[in-house]
Amino acid sequence: MSVFSAQDLRDQFLKYFESKDHKIIASASLIPDNDPTVLFTTAGMHPLVPYLMGEKHPQGTRLASVQKCIRTGDIDEVGDTTHHTFFEMLGNWSLGDYDKIKAIDFAWEFLTKTLAINPALLAVSVFQGDENVAEDKVAFEYWLTLGLANAKIAKLGVKDNWWGPAGTTGPCGPDTEIFYWTGDQNKTPDNFDPEDKNWVEIWNNVFMEYNKTADNKFTALQQKNIDTGMGLERTLAVLNGVDDNYKTELFWPIIQELEKLSGKKYEEDKRSFRIVADHIRSAVFILGDNNGVAPSNKDQGYVLRRLIRRAIRFAKIIGIANNFTKILTTLIIKQYGPDYPELIKNQDFVNKEIEQEENKFVSTLEKGLREFAKQKTIDGKTAFVLFSTYGFPLEMTEELARENNIEINNQEFEAEFKKHQDLSRTASAGMFKGGLADDKQNTKRHHTAAHLMLQALRMVLGEHVEQRGSNINEDRMRFDFTHPEKMTPEQIQKVEDIVNEQINKKMPVSYQEMSVAEAKEYGAIGIFEHKYGDKVKVYTMGDFSKEICGGPHVDNTAELGSFKIIKEESSSAGVRRIKAQVK
Ligand code: ALA
Repeated sequence: MSVFSAQDLRDQFLKYFESKDHKIIASASLIPDNDPTVLFTTAGMHPLVPYLMGEKHPQGTRLASVQKCIRTGDIDEVGDTTHHTFFEMLGNWSLGDYDKIKAIDFAWEFLTKTLAINPALLAVSVFQGDENVAEDKVAFEYWLTLGLANAKIAKLGVKDNWWGPAGTTGPCGPDTEIFYWTGDQNKTPDNFDPEDKNWVEIWNNVFMEYNKTADNKFTALQQKNIDTGMGLERTLAVLNGVDDNYKTELFWPIIQELEKLSGKKYEEDKRSFRIVADHIRSAVFILGDNNGVAPSNKDQGYVLRRLIRRAIRFAKIIGIANNFTKILTTLIIKQYGPDYPELIKNQDFVNKEIEQEENKFVSTLEKGLREFAKQKTIDGKTAFVLFSTYGFPLEMTEELARENNIEINNQEFEAEFKKHQDLSRTASAGMFKGGLADDKQNTKRHHTAAHLMLQALRMVLGEHVEQRGSNINEDRMRFDFTHPEKMTPEQIQKVEDIVNEQINKKMPVSYQEMSVAEAKEYGAIGIFEHKYGDKVKVYTMGDFSKEICGGPHVDNTAELGSFKIIKEESSSAGVRRIKAQVK
C-alpha cells in the first residue's frame, strides 16, 4: 500500500547522518540492562544517558540509530491513528559536538532535500522560556533564516517544548519540534496553529543542555548535547499521505490478517483492530528481545501480560473465536525479522510463551466477564477476585468498569490497586514514563559487583554461564544467567567467597575501547551481537574480569565492601536468578 517503504526511511535516515560523520549504533535492548528506574527503553537517548552526562562514547561524538522503544504510558491512547505502545525512533546525537544551528540544519536538509518534503507543509515550535531558562531566540531566529514564515513558528512553554528528563533526574532541555500538515494540501494554512490536529509532530530536536537534580534544580550541563527523535510509524504515514499509521505497510498486513480471522472489516471497529495489532506487535518485541521476559505478575512481565490479555479481550470483541496469537506473531516476526534478527532467534520462546498465556487467559476470560456482569459496583475485593481467579489485570477491570459505566468503589479499589502496584512496581509513574540510569554510588557498586559475580559463576558452575539480563539499583542487584539447575549452598558460598576475595584485592577498575574483534581476541565476555558499528568498551578488574560493558562502575573493587547472595531462584527454563547485595 505504501509507496515509501519503512526500510527506505530507516536507510535514508541512517545514510544521511552517516554522510554527516555520524556513527551508526545498534538499537539497544528494549529492556535496559542496568537501569533501575525504567522498565523499558522509551527513547533513543536512553542507552546514551552516561554519554549525555559527559562520559566518552567509544564511537565518538556524533551518533545515529533506529531504536526500539516501548511507552506504556500511552496505552489508553492506543486505538487512535497515531499512538503505539511499541515504536521505532530514528535519532541523531551530538555529544558536545555540533550546536543547535547545525542540528536544525541537518533536520531541515533531511526533510526538505533528502525526503523532498515541500517546506510549505512544515511548521515548527520553539521554547518560549520560563523562570528557569530563557526563551530560545537562537532557534527562533534560525528558523526564520531558513525561510520559515514568522507565523509558522509557535513559541510554546515547558509543557510542549521542554523534553526530559525521562525519569526524575538527568539530562533535559528546551526543544524545537517539527510538524507536518496532514490536512488538505490545497489548503495548507499560512499560519501554524498547534491546536489544529492536522499538524502532526514528526520530529523533536532537544537541546540537552541541562541536568535536573534530585532537589528539582536545573543546572547547566558542561557538555551541550543534541538529542533528536523521529517516530518511524508516524513519519512513514505522513510521507505516504495516509491519515492512519495502521494503513502503512508496518501494520496493514496485520490488520488484513485480523480481518480474515474475524470475518469483520477494519472499518467496522478500527479501535479494536488497532489495539490487537499494536499490543501483539509490542508483545513480540518484548518476548523476542535479547533480554526478553515471559508474562508474569511483576515488572516488564506484568506489562507484557496486560498487553497480551488486553489484545485477547479485544480480539474477542471483533469476533475472533479461536486462538490467534501465534498466527500474528509468525506474521510479525517474518515482517520484522530481517531488521531485528533477535526475533527470529527467539521465535520459539515468543510463540511458546504467547500461546501459553493465551491458553491460560481464554479459559477464564468468559467466566470472568460473566462474573463482572453481575456486579453493580466494583470494590477492592471483587477486583482482587477477578485478578486472582480470572486473571483480569486490575487495569482491565478498571477499563471494563469505565466501558460499562459501572461505578468503582474508589477508595477500596485504590487500596487494592496500590497493594498490587507495590507488588508489581509497574504502574508507578516513574517506571511507566521511563527514567535514567542513575549513577548513585551504591548502584555503581552493585553494577561492579555484578561483573565479579559473573566471572565467579563461570568459575564455579562452568563456562556455559552467560548473563541473561540484570536489574540493578541502589539496594540490590538482580542478575539472570544461564544454568540448568538450582545452585547448591556450597556453590553459592564459593561464589560469594571468590567475589569477596577479589574485593579484598583492592583492584583498580579500568576500561579500554576496542573493536568487537579485538575484545574477543582479548578474551572479554559479553554479548557480541551488534548490528551496526563495532567499537566497545571493555572493563577490566585486575586479571580477574574482562567484560564488554558501558558503565558506570566504581574505580576500585575495594569500594564494594563485602558481597552477599540473598537469593537464588529459577527465572525461566534454563535461566537462574540471583539477588545479591554489597554492604
Ligand atoms: N528524546 C526525545 C524524544 O523522545 C528526542 O522525543
